[in-house]
Amino acid sequence: RMYKRQMICRRDIDSLNVPFLLMYQSLIPPDEEKVKQKQLLSLLERLVIKEWPKARLYLYGSCANSFGISKSDIDVCLAIEEAHMDKSKLIMKLADILQSDNLQNVQALIHARVPIVKLMDPMTGISCDICINNLLAVVNTKLLWDYSRIDARLRQLAFIIKHWAKSRRVNETYHGTLSSYAYVLMCINFLQQRRPAILPCLQEMKTTYSVTVDDIDCSFFDQVEKLYDFGHRNKETIAQLVWGFFYYWAYCHDYTNDVISVRTGSIISKREKNWTRRIGNDRHLICIEDPFEMSHDLGRVVDKHSIKVLREEFERAADIMQFDPNPCVKLFEPY
Ligand code: CTP
Ligand code: MG
Repeated sequence: RMYKRQMICRRDIDSLNVPFLLMYQSLIPPDEEKVKQKQLLSLLERLVIKEWPKARLYLYGSCANSFGISKSDIDVCLAIEEAHMDKSKLIMKLADILQSDNLQNVQALIHARVPIVKLMDPMTGISCDICINNLLAVVNTKLLWDYSRIDARLRQLAFIIKHWAKSRRVNETYHGTLSSYAYVLMCINFLQQRRPAILPCLQEMKTTYSVTVDDIDCSFFDQVEKLYDFGHRNKETIAQLVWGFFYYWAYCHDYTNDVISVRTGSIISKREKNWTRRIGNDRHLICIEDPFEMSHDLGRVVDKHSIKVLREEFERAADIMQFDPNPCVKLFEPY
């Protein structure tokens, strides 16, 4: 494969470790935020159970996968067996149940791609989206959480990449760029690809956790406390990994043929997935396979215009990491 630019060793690369780690620490939500989230969840639970005693509420997304930066909203999934009621009716009923003195702005958004109830808790200032029976999201949240406990560098890398993506406005799916979930999968896959590897592939290991959701078998190895020294033979530092990540997406990834796959811990081909041409709105210009919903390409939101924006941002970031005297400032300059 031809590289447009050689990755020449920058001698002072490790002087960037301290500023990156400080930045990472400043993005970690304080414990009191977690406490407030729990309080809101138990209030919701009390209200829901009064009406539906068998229903359960689960946190998913960044408030539960360990990749949440400070002041994120919380994502909640209501698990309920009400087969006779359709989703819009359930959403409206849920909004009704939650109309209480303690909550504000309860809205039922029934026409969204994923119908939700949105609300705000004035006590804690936390906003919250509640969806119904989206259990795949609950399971992929657990997978991300389990990966995050294996090697500290994953969480550090993902926070920095998410912060970069938000600063540069390439974390906006409604504008054709990638979701936070996609960026975290890219980070996991990147660390699976290092040699020696920093992360294993949990779905290729012995099954210790298994559920079936919407006919999809979700199983993986979740006894990650046995893997705490998995990445120890690899000594790469956070500065080297941030650089390597951008360099990979700027100059090494084969956008024509390759699919990033956390499920297999490797890079697989578009051809074997039949993702070689546009079908409907799925253009497959950058391919990131969902670990469980194998037919779901998280890059499907990316179009002809936004792929250019994304690749230019990857190149900008890689070049800053290589040449700029002060990458920690330049990288995150607001777009
Ligand atoms: N999700 C999914 N499929 C997608 C997008 C999201 O299953 N195409 C689920 C994942 O469980 C993900 C959650 O929805 O963890 C929230 O997605 P997202 O908002 O992208 O990520 P967050 O981790 O919540 O990030 P942010 O801090 O930006 O809110
Ligand atoms: Mg979120």
